[in-house]
Amino acid sequence: MTNGATILVAGASGETGREILRILDGRDPQVRALTRAESKADRLRALGADEVAVGDLLAETGLDAAVEGVDVVLSAVGSTVTDALAATEFVDGAGTMALLEAAADAGAEAFVMESALGVGGEGGSALARVFDAFIGPLQDAKARAEAAIREADVRHTILRPGVLTNGRRTDDVTVAPADTGLWGTVSRADVARLMVAAPFTGAAAHRTLEVVSTPSHRELGLAIDWQLPRAPSETIPVEVADD
Ligand SMILES: NC(=O)c1ccc[n+]([C@@H]2O[C@H](COP(=O)([O-])OP(=O)(O)OC[C@H]3O[C@@H](n4cnc5c(N)ncnc54)[C@H](OP(=O)(O)O)[C@@H]3O)[C@@H](O)[C@H]2O)c1
Repeated sequence: MTNGATILVAGASGETGREILRILDGRDPQVRALTRAESKADRLRALGADEVAVGDLLAETGLDAAVEGVDVVLSAVGSTVTDALAATEFVDGAGTMALLEAAADAGAEAFVMESALGVGGEGGSALARVFDAFIGPLQDAKARAEAAIREADVRHTILRPGVLTNGRRTDDVTVAPADTGLWGTVSRADVARLMVAAPFTGAAAHRTLEVVSTPSHRELGLAIDWQLPRAPSETIPVEVADD
């Protein structure tokens, strides 16, 4: 993936999505933010989005324009608690799969999904079972989207964070294979950093990874050298020879 990529951030107005925009702000990639609400466009631009696409992944409106020319999709969409209790279709499942299909058809090379601990049932930590008890339909929907992403012809990274907090970015989290059974919390800012870095980090390709910041789980973590896309100030200076 080149630093000049165009990145679509789905769920950009959400709590993780805003952290993604902050991390991408001032870096080389072109950033397009997706929202259902035109009224959020100015705020998303103020957070660093170069462009805003208006569309609804469940209604499948605005999708073609959202994915046109996109190299990377970072998906941090999610449902509300009300949705979890009342809806039958979820943006976490059907919506994410519609985005995946549109992005793959448009030639996107990489797709990163923010999923959740407990999805898929592997490992089965105590925290994962608590998640399942309360938001089982959402977890099932995420599992279907994960499966579609793993089967799609795109480079993917699926991150399964523990309970999300609005704490600061620490760059010090444990990332482990999907069946490790991690539990604990992790800040959205730390998850956002991994999501932005995943398409630029070789060891993150085609992986489903659990993420927490629990210090006692550190020894279970993988050693991955996460690489954020370049900021212009990090460009290697070209030396001009004196005549
Ligand atoms: N809460 C936790 O402890 C926890 C733990 C692990 C994983 N997660 C998962 O992490 C993800 C991010 O959570 P978060 O709390 O950071 O997000 P959030 O603040 O709830 O934001 C979710 C975003 O999804 C977008 N969205 C919802 N329905 C959509 C649709 N039909 N079409 C397009 N966009 C849609 C919304 O954008 P617009 O309103 O602008 O359209 C919203 O900004 C979610 O998938 C969540 O399930 C959460």
